[in-house]
Amino acid sequence: MEIERILIPSDRLQERVKELAREIDAAIGESRETDLVLVGVLRGAFIFLADLLRALDTPAAVDFIAVSSYGGGTQSSGDIRITQDLTASIRGRDVILVEDIVDSGLTLQALIQHVGVHRPRSLRSCALLSKPDRRVVAIEADWTGFEIPDAFVIGYGLDYAERHRGLPYIAILRAPEASLD
Ligand code: IMP
Repeated sequence: MEIERILIPSDRLQERVKELAREIDAAIGESRETDLVLVGVLRGAFIFLADLLRALDTPAAVDFIAVSSYGGGTQSSGDIRITQDLTASIRGRDVILVEDIVDSGLTLQALIQHVGVHRPRSLRSCALLSKPDRRVVAIEADWTGFEIPDAFVIGYGLDYAERHRGLPYIAILRAPEASLD
C-alpha cells in the first residue's frame, strides 16, 4: 500500500468545500459579478471543482486548462507547459482558477500570467491545498482550503504517477523509494 496515513478525511473535505463556496458566494455577491467561470486545472482539480461547483449558489460556467510540469515524479521541474488551453472566451468575465494544490507556486504563477492575457474582468484563484513551506515564488491563492505540511499527498483528484485520484480523502504518500519493488 502506498498510503502512509490519512491527512484529511472525507467529511472534513466536504465541510471545507462548502465553507469555501460560501466565501466565494459572499465575495461575488458583494461585487455584483455575474459572469463567473470556474477554470479547473487538469487533472488534479477535477473532483474539487465538481464539488465546489455544486456547493456554490452563484451560477458558474466551467472550463478546463491542462498543464504539465512533473513528469510523473514528486518534484516540480519548474517547466510549466500548457498542454490544453481554454475552450471558451473569458474576455470580460470573472474567472476563478481552481487548483488542487499550490506547492512551489510556479504553476499558479504561470497560469495567472497565461489566463490574464485573455483579459478577464477579474481573475482569482482557489486552491484546495497549499504547502507554504515549499514555496519558490511568493504567491497565494485567493482562497485556500487547507495548509498542509511538506509531504506528497494523494487522493480527492491528486495522483502519484496517475494512481490514487479516486480516494475520497487526502492521504500522505509513503516515501516513493520505500515502495519500489
Ligand atoms: P507547483 O507548480 O510546484 O505549485 O505545483 C503545482 C502542481 O504540482 C499541482 O497542481 C499538482 O498537480 C502537483 N503537486 C504538487 N504537490 C503535489 C502533491 O503533494 N501531490 C500531488 N500533486 C502535487
